[in-house]
Amino acid sequence: MRINGRQYQTIWLSEDGWSVEIIDQTRLPHIFATVRLSSLEDAARAIRTMQVRGAPLIGVTAAYGLCLALRSDASDEALNQAIDHLTSQRPTAVNLRWALEEMQLAVRNLSRGSRVEAAYARAARMARDDVEANRAIGEHGLVLLRTLLARKPAGTPLNVLTHCNAGWLAAVDWGTATSPIYRAHDLGLPIHVWVGETRPRNQGAALTTFELGAHGVPHTVIADNAGGHLMQRGEVDVAIVGADRVAANGDAANKIGTYLKALAARDTGVPFYVALPYSTIDWSLENGDQIPIEERSCDEVLHMTGRTAAGDIATVQIAPDGSPAANPAFDITPSRLITGLITERGVAAASASGLLSLYPERRATGPA
Ligand code: MRU
Repeated sequence: MRINGRQYQTIWLSEDGWSVEIIDQTRLPHIFATVRLSSLEDAARAIRTMQVRGAPLIGVTAAYGLCLALRSDASDEALNQAIDHLTSQRPTAVNLRWALEEMQLAVRNLSRGSRVEAAYARAARMARDDVEANRAIGEHGLVLLRTLLARKPAGTPLNVLTHCNAGWLAAVDWGTATSPIYRAHDLGLPIHVWVGETRPRNQGAALTTFELGAHGVPHTVIADNAGGHLMQRGEVDVAIVGADRVAANGDAANKIGTYLKALAARDTGVPFYVALPYSTIDWSLENGDQIPIEERSCDEVLHMTGRTAAGDIATVQIAPDGSPAANPAFDITPSRLITGLITERGVAAASASGLLSLYPERRATGPA
């Protein structure tokens, strides 16, 4: 996607041909800065501190992290240690584990001398495939958006509600939930996006707004708690969110607060879609109960960071001294509340049979 007239993806190889560059998402929306990753630890830190975040991007960053690790030591022992270290950085997005399994398959049986080249080739293909999958999600989602738009009076915009950032910043390009939105907007369809702020890290207010704004998509930030009210008033035509892990029955883990929006959507009859690429499906889990939920630092709940009127970036405390806090970072939306899953292969019911209809090759291995 474009920022200030320049084409960007969220991760790319540096000019030196081996180190990796990312956009530091912890500094957005106020500062656009890139960071160079040149070691396993750089990549692990970028994932852990959320310089990169969003399930697909976490996976691709881990893949390049493994390349960097192998560059300094391509032994079996170093490979295993690097995989364990990267896997432990964040628990919920299954793309992290998936990416490392794919990398392991690509290099495990090779001689030490050929592992580095094979690893970089696999990571680059993973990044390309992610772009293509997300582009395809946009095509399938566009069909849904067109159908919904056709039901509205001519000239009225389609109001899409989203949560967190499942945009191009969360992937390599296009995004998952935002891909249909960009596609529709680029075709001149009238689209307006309600962007839930997404406390405590504010991925909606800070990141989704940043990218929609840079692309010229009309949008409005709302407090997370406003979603249900807008749905009741008929001001939301469809909700589309991303996912960090989808179980084989279609239950979806996504940023905390997604479940509440799905409940409100069900009560008000608003269609609620989850957009995801194949790398986000965890075929080993029968349902969402088994998805690990990341517990993050209470500081994220007790403080907020933003830009002061003087232009400085500052962090302030928002609760009394000593107030305890809890910070579960994801929740599970049961498949019964999901109208459909938008994937790179098409739109399916959020159910085991719906997913298997899109991925029939999983019939042999996936839970029945
Ligand atoms: O904690 P984050 O920022 O890594 O959260 C993940 C997300 O960005 C969202 O849950 C998103 O909607 C799914 S990733 C496309």
